[in-house]
Amino acid sequence: MGYAKVLLGVVLVTALAATSTAQTKLNKGATCPALIDYVSLNNTNITAIQSLFQVKKFRNLLGANNLPTSTPSDKNVNATEKIRIPFTCMCTNGTGVSNRKPVYKVQKDDFMYHIAKEVFSGLLTFQQIADVNGVPDPNQINPGQELWIPLPCSCDIVNGIKVVHNGILVDKGSTVEGIAKQYGTNLTTLLTLNNMTDPSKLQAGQVLDIPLPVIGIKLMLKCLFVPCSSNVNSSSLDYPFLLANGTYVYTAYNCVKLQCEPSGLKSTNSDWTTCPAMQCQGADSLFIGNKTSSGCNQTSCVYSGFTSKSILTSLVTESICPAPSAAWKIGFQGLGWNFFLFISIQLILFLSLHLS
Ligand SMILES: *[C@@H]1O[C@H](CO)[C@@H](O)[C@H](O)[C@H]1NC(C)=O
Ligand SMILES: *[C@@H]1O[C@H](CO)[C@@H](O)[C@H](O)[C@H]1NC(C)=O
Ligand SMILES: *[C@@H]1O[C@H](CO)[C@@H](O)[C@H](O)[C@H]1NC(C)=O
Ligand SMILES: *[C@@H]1O[C@H](CO)[C@@H](O)[C@H](O)[C@H]1NC(C)=O
Ligand SMILES: *[C@@H]1O[C@H](CO)[C@@H](O)[C@H](O)[C@H]1NC(C)=O
Ligand SMILES: *[C@@H]1O[C@H](CO)[C@@H](O)[C@H](O)[C@H]1NC(C)=O
Ligand SMILES: *[C@@H]1O[C@H](CO)[C@@H](O)[C@H](O)[C@H]1NC(C)=O
Ligand SMILES: *[C@@H]1O[C@H](CO)[C@@H](O)[C@H](O)[C@H]1NC(C)=O
Ligand SMILES: *[C@@H]1O[C@H](CO)[C@@H](O)[C@H](O)[C@H]1NC(C)=O
Ligand SMILES: *[C@@H]1O[C@H](CO)[C@@H](O)[C@H](O)[C@H]1NC(C)=O
Repeated sequence: MGYAKVLLGVVLVTALAATSTAQTKLNKGATCPALIDYVSLNNTNITAIQSLFQVKKFRNLLGANNLPTSTPSDKNVNATEKIRIPFTCMCTNGTGVSNRKPVYKVQKDDFMYHIAKEVFSGLLTFQQIADVNGVPDPNQINPGQELWIPLPCSCDIVNGIKVVHNGILVDKGSTVEGIAKQYGTNLTTLLTLNNMTDPSKLQAGQVLDIPLPVIGIKLMLKCLFVPCSSNVNSSSLDYPFLLANGTYVYTAYNCVKLQCEPSGLKSTNSDWTTCPAMQCQGADSLFIGNKTSSGCNQTSCVYSGFTSKSILTSLVTESICPAPSAAWKIGFQGLGWNFFLFISIQLILFLSLHLS
């Protein structure tokens, strides 16, 4: 199956409801952020890749690849170099494809095999493109025709844990064990996830679904932010929050760069002429990203979400002395402004977690 199966009941039900009427607005529960690796056949540049995959914001592409924010838009990308593409996955019936994007405009002399195998480097087959676009004869496509490229993806929970799925292109000589090790997972998990029984059947160029850990509590404490779904306040506009380890995104109207710092960008909330204070109540000298220690206790001021009026912070205390169980508690301190202008959570998720 490539991209497998264990959808939450609720998600599955809403996904089915969404597909039964083709034009119905997609249900919130049926999409999630996803990643796929791309290798261009020719030397290119990062802007050309952004445009091919229609990644809305340049910095989201940089974030997915953990490239510095100062990366120039004409940065050369060599033919063998892998670039991770962030996109929105639409999950239906236990499998997923990219949510109606990217759309590829057929060029003169294009043919389906070339589009699938060469332009999109074999991330999918030409038959899959033909199927979702209702093209009866793949040999019959016309210049100017627009084709939705259904990139494979998944929103499934893996081993009971929320993850971000990353489709990787298998290199020559790779083994499933080696890949599992490289990505901090194990053979059984990868075989199950990819519906494989025999690891020796792995082929170069195959797309393999890898579950990337979502930034977890330990890493977050190291980074001084608490962006995981269990800690971001449920009234936050970016709740529930999913961010793959090793990537970054901007949130809170661009004011906060997760995982590690205030962004330094101009806010996209026109009511915010400057980004609001990001200081922890009850510890006025601590701003998001600051920490202080006293004895064995280290207290950090961390990001906990945002509303149209404020950026939420909390104080997290953890023990930094070697002890069997690191006891820590979260004292949530919203900044207590009123909420107006409640924008759809899903919209903000889209805005903050890249794309479409
Ligand atoms: C898994 O693969 C087997 C054969 O390799 C196939 O018959 C089966 O339909 C696949 N299962 C799913 C859920 O895709
Ligand atoms: C990036 O590559 C595209 C396609 O190869 C080319 O048209 C464009 O001029 C390049 N852009 C820059 C800034 O080099
Ligand atoms: C890309 O290729 C050029 C020339 O072949 C080389 O100088 C450059 O270091 C390569 N860049 C990367 C990122 O591999
Ligand atoms: C979902 O899967 C079921 C059973 O596998 C199938 O009968 C149904 O047509 C599928 N629905 C869609 C929308 O693909
Ligand atoms: C790469 O170059 C080959 C040969 O010049 C060309 O046929 C192909 O369309 C190019 N691929 C892309 C993705 O531009
Ligand atoms: C693989 O990892 C999962 C989740 O971490 C775990 O439940 C499972 O026991 C592991 N399997 C093996 C064979 O180590
Ligand atoms: C996250 O990535 C870093 C660096 O790649 C790695 O050291 C760390 O173990 C990863 N954390 C998790 C939870 O996978
Ligand atoms: C707290 O964070 C602010 C903004 O990130 C920084 O300017 C300041 O130096 C930090 N203060 C301490 C005590 O670390
Ligand atoms: C450390 O924290 C614990 C519980 O959070 C508290 O009981 C203790 O007094 C603190 N110790 C110091 C030195 O602040
Ligand atoms: C979330 O924030 C609201 C408003 O700031 C606050 O009333 C509520 O208690 C917070 N919820 C949690 C679980 O901290």
